[in-house]
Amino acid sequence: MNVLLIFGVVLLSAHHSSANFIANCSATPEEIERIVLVDGNYIRHNFALMYNVSNMRELEWDQNLEKEAFKMNSCDDLKHGDNYRVEYGTAKESISILTEFIDKTSKKKKGGWLWPEVNHPLQTKILRCHLTDFCSVPGYNLMSGEFESFFNISRIYLYGPINSLKVSDFQYGPTGSKCPEGLVEQWDLCHDSKNDPKTRPE
Ligand SMILES: *[C@@H]1O[C@H](CO)[C@@H](O)[C@H](O)[C@H]1NC(C)=O
Ligand SMILES: *[C@@H]1O[C@H](CO)[C@@H](O)[C@H](O)[C@H]1NC(C)=O
Ligand SMILES: *[C@@H]1O[C@H](CO)[C@@H](O)[C@H](O)[C@H]1NC(C)=O
Repeated sequence: MNVLLIFGVVLLSAHHSSANFIANCSATPEEIERIVLVDGNYIRHNFALMYNVSNMRELEWDQNLEKEAFKMNSCDDLKHGDNYRVEYGTAKESISILTEFIDKTSKKKKGGWLWPEVNHPLQTKILRCHLTDFCSVPGYNLMSGEFESFFNISRIYLYGPINSLKVSDFQYGPTGSKCPEGLVEQWDLCHDSKNDPKTRPE
């Protein structure tokens, strides 16, 4: 009992010390399931189908990434780390890498789904955190191909474990055809055995 209490206090104070910027990275099992689906694998599935990405891996929730998130103290810290990338961490550069892949391989006009970090084929982890304040991030205009505006976000998404993005990370071919460890059939996304089944939402 005492041990539990002390552990609880330590956890709380650890969170409070950096709670100035990151409110929390908490989510209920139901929310986790929805985030991984709607903000993750559904987008990746559609991007892979639309642009013929053959090596897109399945994402799973990774609470461990909150250690990295809690190191951020302001909007200026929305930068990629050693074992993750954060949405808007390098917005212009990331979009240009994504569009370079599409321009090279596809005759199709660029449509939706142009989010570079969530569509990084080699990522397998996702975490969403709430901010205590808004951050202003650049908005990309699909029509003009320019960053024309800013909008405010109050949540951030971290994707791991890869910290770089290269055009060669995108393999062109039939969806799910370059999955060394097999396919998650529901999505035509690649299975990754390093994903710990224990972190899978029930
Ligand atoms: C996490 O932070 C958000 C935004 O401040 C808040 O609405 C939510 O209730 C918090 N969740 C928990 C579990 O503390
Ligand atoms: C994707 O592959 C299919 C089947 O080979 C082809 O019909 C389609 O045009 C390709 N799409 C793109 C965007 O390359
Ligand atoms: C973003 O928030 C700031 C205040 O933090 C506000 O001044 C600005 O108008 C907001 N921008 C948008 C696009 O909502």
